[in-house]
Amino acid sequence: MKPIQVGLLGIGTVGSGTFNVLQRNQEEIRRRAGRGIEITMVADLNVERAREIVGDGVDVVADARQVIANPAIDIVIELIGGYGIARALVLEAIAAGKHVVTANKALLAVHGTEIFAAAREKGVIVAFEAAVAGGIPIIKALREGLTANSIQWVAGIINGTTNFILSEMRDKGLDFDVVLKEAQRLGYAEADPTFDIEGVDAAHKATLMSAIAFGVPVQFDKAHVEGITRLSAVDIRYAEQLGYRIKLLGIAKRQAAGIELRVHPTLVPSKRLIANVEGAMNAVMVQGDAVGTTLYYGKGAGSEPTASAVIADLVDITRLHTADPDHRVPHLAFQPDELHTTPILPIEQVRTAFYLRLRVADQKGVLSAITSILATSDISIDAVLQRESNDGEHQTDVIILTHETQEGVMRAALAQMQALETVLAPIVSLRKEELA
Ligand code: NDP
Ligand code: HSE
Repeated sequence: MKPIQVGLLGIGTVGSGTFNVLQRNQEEIRRRAGRGIEITMVADLNVERAREIVGDGVDVVADARQVIANPAIDIVIELIGGYGIARALVLEAIAAGKHVVTANKALLAVHGTEIFAAAREKGVIVAFEAAVAGGIPIIKALREGLTANSIQWVAGIINGTTNFILSEMRDKGLDFDVVLKEAQRLGYAEADPTFDIEGVDAAHKATLMSAIAFGVPVQFDKAHVEGITRLSAVDIRYAEQLGYRIKLLGIAKRQAAGIELRVHPTLVPSKRLIANVEGAMNAVMVQGDAVGTTLYYGKGAGSEPTASAVIADLVDITRLHTADPDHRVPHLAFQPDELHTTPILPIEQVRTAFYLRLRVADQKGVLSAITSILATSDISIDAVLQRESNDGEHQTDVIILTHETQEGVMRAALAQMQALETVLAPIVSLRKEELA
């Protein structure tokens, strides 16, 4: 059978990895897919660099629309990134009847509803395994492997850049900016690294996982997003003393009233496997009612790890190419007319345990004033650590771990504690998850 013909839009970090892996493993991939898969046309703004990567025999153009307009192309891979031109090109490719593979989580988390609807109408596939956790096949696991389960929660380290930064800062005592530059050099960081460090990239991925796990539309605008830029090294150290590591987690959790969808630095018990995921590695935990807890681990970014997921999608599409659209795996796992309107909960209704650090005057009665506010707010204390003050300092840190409470209740208690004269600096509060 004639090889399936692929057009690649954007041959940067992931695009070049995709081209190289597809070339290197072409014979095995052909045997798995049932027919050859060939990138026959590439569009990139930098035509010269693209030619150097692909060599002769591949048509290289600057205008991506020429790829979409080519009737010989069966599948378009979008690896440009962003919401702008990428959105237009993906919709145009769908309108032209092409299947689409993309690693663009930002695009799908924000415009997924429109894109999946357009694809359904045209009977084409939009595949996006590489959009969440790079090389880890988490989309396939959630959408197919765990399809028997009622998913309770998904929690993951789904941004390699921030995990790399947190690991390097903790282990090597390096500065934030130095490590961020290294992450950019290694190709982990987004074109705009603010997306990584402010938690936006992780929220894009958590949004996609929440839709697939719970059968709701993609709703990035309802996600609660906090990054690592306000995290201080002292809290990383105190957390360690209490038996916890701080990780930037993306969490989607089912509650009776709705779905929690949030990204924030989180204390995780050091003994959990996920707490020991270091560097740019990603890991996703999924709790299903039948299977229990499962853990998926691997490289979440980088040229060839991400290419691995892009090519897996190419193989899937090649196998499904001729299947009737109604009998393919749905984009968001649930049949499109079976998506629920279960609300994404406001952050005030989220339930977690907390880590609190209070800079206080080192004098009698301070701790009891704090604990009585917690007690009257019905917030139960799990552990307290008081740092000894240095001679002549007259102030000290009190660290409190609480049991689970509602965020709104904690915010009200924090306001009361902050108003105490003996509390000398803004209180640091971080959420804690046992992930048991
Ligand atoms: P790069 O910036 O390395 O590559 C993008 C490429 O697209 C560049 O070569 C760029 O050219 C080219 N480009 C830009 N605009 C156009 C256009 N209008 N037409 C054709 N080509 C264009 O990005 P990545 O490879 O890192 O990322 C690609 C996608 O994959 C993004 O959505 C990203 O979020 C996602 N992703 C990335 C991962 C990673 O590890 N890097 C992991 C998982 C997902 P020029 O350089 O000249 O601007
Ligand atoms: N910037 C992303 C990260 C790339 O650091 O995880 C992978 O999606």
